[in-house]
Amino acid sequence: MESFLHNRVFALVAILFLCFNCKNEEETKVVKENSKPELIMHQPSEMANFMNGMYAYNMQLRQQIINGETPVVMPLDLMKLHSAEMSNGHSRTPVWNSFVNVFIEAQQSVVDTLSNIELKERYNSAINNCLACHKTECTGPIPKIKKLLIK
Ligand code: HEC
Repeated sequence: MESFLHNRVFALVAILFLCFNCKNEEETKVVKENSKPELIMHQPSEMANFMNGMYAYNMQLRQQIINGETPVVMPLDLMKLHSAEMSNGHSRTPVWNSFVNVFIEAQQSVVDTLSNIELKERYNSAINNCLACHKTECTGPIPKIKKLLIK
């Protein structure tokens, strides 16, 4: 009986860990209380997948910039930010709407070879725009996004 209980506690901890993305501690508590089988089947939303794509792309940009290269391609369809379906109770709040276009412009300007703003500065400005929105809309990934900044 006791080991059964241990297994259950372990499974719950594992599930909570897997579900960790935007949730702050308060939200995690709610998950614990009404833990339902759907949580085990947690599937990232279209928006979450797109965000991870943006993360990977910027990681690559960062390395290029550190290597002294000039990135010229922006392969992401940033308009997806306006259409992708969201999860975890996220939605396009007024705060989201106030940040999204500023971010899109900043991300596009990184590959603008005609800009007279320094490349590193344009790149960091794009990342700071990720952070600006995340501060209210999805706090979980902030430490991870901060690592994208070039010191
Ligand atoms: C306009 C607001 C906004 C901007 C700008 C933004 N994000 Fe997000 N991000 C969100 C929201 C909201 C979610 C949660 C989406 C969901 O769960 O459906 C999210 C989720 C994420 C996640 C977690 C995905 C997962 O697996 O759950 C990562 C990582 C992320 N964003 C990275 C970034 C990076 C890197 C940038 C900039 C290149 C960025 N975000 C720009 C609002 C934003």
